Amino acid sequence: MDKQQAENSRRKFLTASGQAMAGIALASTVIGSGVREAEAYGYKTGFEYVKLDPAKVAQTTYENYFKRWCASSVVAGFLEYLQKNPGGQWKDLPIDAMRWAHGGLAGWGALCGTLTGAGTVIGLATNDTDIAEAMVNDLAFYYAYTELPSFQPKKVLKSKLSDMTIAGTPVCHISVGRWMRAADETFLSDARAERCARLAANIAQETAIMLNAWKEGKFKAKHKVLYNVIANGITSQHNCRDCHGNNVPAAETYISLDK
Ligand code: HEC
Repeated sequence: MDKQQAENSRRKFLTASGQAMAGIALASTVIGSGVREAEAYGYKTGFEYVKLDPAKVAQTTYENYFKRWCASSVVAGFLEYLQKNPGGQWKDLPIDAMRWAHGGLAGWGALCGTLTGAGTVIGLATNDTDIAEAMVNDLAFYYAYTELPSFQPKKVLKSKLSDMTIAGTPVCHISVGRWMRAADETFLSDARAERCARLAANIAQETAIMLNAWKEGKFKAKHKVLYNVIANGITSQHNCRDCHGNNVPAAETYISLDK
């Protein structure tokens, strides 16, 4: 790269950062001032949830994984039962409509697909934006801070497995990367596929436990929603140093988001 090219690319970078900053400022205005108007609200979905056996949902998710991958296998774990009973609109939902979310969105390593799949079922089954958000938030905490995968299949389909890791994040790339480092396996190995299949089973199982509790009127959120936004002043997780090293930029913190 000659001097002129370097200068051009520096300018481009600065412009891009400027846009990112403007985006953050806008988000702060919206979240800071509009939250009262943007309160939770109920909605009707017509998708009736009936209590399911979490262990069965987990096993079915696991068995589906090797064909459908993370997102769709979680959806399948629920729909293979809900489409039979109670049926209704569940029957019209194509299980593979969420398959694109595998690998953290078509292999981009963003949000772990198991959570996209689970969130879809949660959003359809529940009927209040606050409940869905609280449940997904609890699920993200479970995903990020539990040693996984702990699910034990009835019959091992791909590979034996011994390593479990704490992802520290719902981000696919980091989650699978930490497991790969611990297990000394490559991404395209059978062991890695087995790990993600069992992880999907764990996430489906946890989701079924929460939805069952909700159905009984007993769901109570364990964690504060928007906890990270409030604590860090930016959409985030508690992992700033993973990327910023020791020079974490200070973010403006918002005024209380109390509801
Ligand atoms: C996945 C990597 C990653 C993580 C984790 C992360 N950041 Fe960032 N952050 C970035 C990148 C990339 C930028 C864009 C600016 C840049 O490239 O230096 C950025 C920009 C920012 C900015 C705006 C730019 C500035 O200098 O003021 C703030 C503030 C910030 N991050 C704070 C945080 C905080 C606080 C945390 C933890 C709660 C965090 N970040 C976690 C990657 C990350």
